[in-house]
Amino acid sequence: MNQVEQLLLANKSWAQEKKMFDPSYFERLAKVQTPDFLWIGCSDSRVPANEITGTNPGEIFVHRNVANLVVHTDLNLLTVLSYAVEVLKVKHIIVCGHYGCGGVQAALGKTHYGLINKWLRNIKDIYRLHQEEIEALPSLLDKTNRLVELNVAEQILNLAKTSIIQKAWKEREYPVLHGWVYGLDNGLLKKIVTMDYTSQLEDIYKYDF
Ligand code: CO
Repeated sequence: MNQVEQLLLANKSWAQEKKMFDPSYFERLAKVQTPDFLWIGCSDSRVPANEITGTNPGEIFVHRNVANLVVHTDLNLLTVLSYAVEVLKVKHIIVCGHYGCGGVQAALGKTHYGLINKWLRNIKDIYRLHQEEIEALPSLLDKTNRLVELNVAEQILNLAKTSIIQKAWKEREYPVLHGWVYGLDNGLLKKIVTMDYTSQLEDIYKYDF
C-alpha cells in the first residue's frame, strides 16, 4: 500500500472510532462552526494546533504559514483574520511560534532561497530592531530561539496595527491577542506577550472610526 492510501485508510478508521464513541459527532460538527479561538501558527508539521492544546475540531480556526507571520499585505492572512474577527467573532487570537523554527533560523543566515527570501525578510527586519540583544547570545540556537520570541511579539503588534482588530476592540472589547512559543522538545507552550483593548499602541498606528 502506498503512503497516500495509508492516510485514507487511517481516516476511515478514525471516522469509525469517533462515531463509535459519539454517534452524532459528525452531524453535530457539520451543522455549525463557532470557535472562540483563531490560531496563527507556523506551517511546521510538528506544531498541530488542536493536538497540542487538547482541543477538538470546531474549537479553533486555524491559519498557518512559514514562521507564523502577520504581514499586512497578505490577502490570505487578512481574509482569515477578517472572517474570524468580524463573522465568527472569536474572543482570542493566538500567534504561536516554536523554538528551533527553521524559518526564523534561515532569516538569521545569508543563504539565498529564492522567493522565500522575500517572506523571511520580514524576520530580518525584526532582527534589526533587536540586533544588539540577539548578537550577545552565545550560539545560533540561542539567537534563533530569542528571535522566535521577539518575532511572536512583533506579530501580535502587527495584529494590533490592523483596522480589523482596532475596530473590534472599539465595538466589543475583544479579541484578546496572545503571543506564545511552543517547545518542540518538551511539548509545552510558553506565554510571551498579551495585548487587549486597553493596551497602548503608538499613536501613529491608531485609526479613527
Ligand atoms: Co517554524
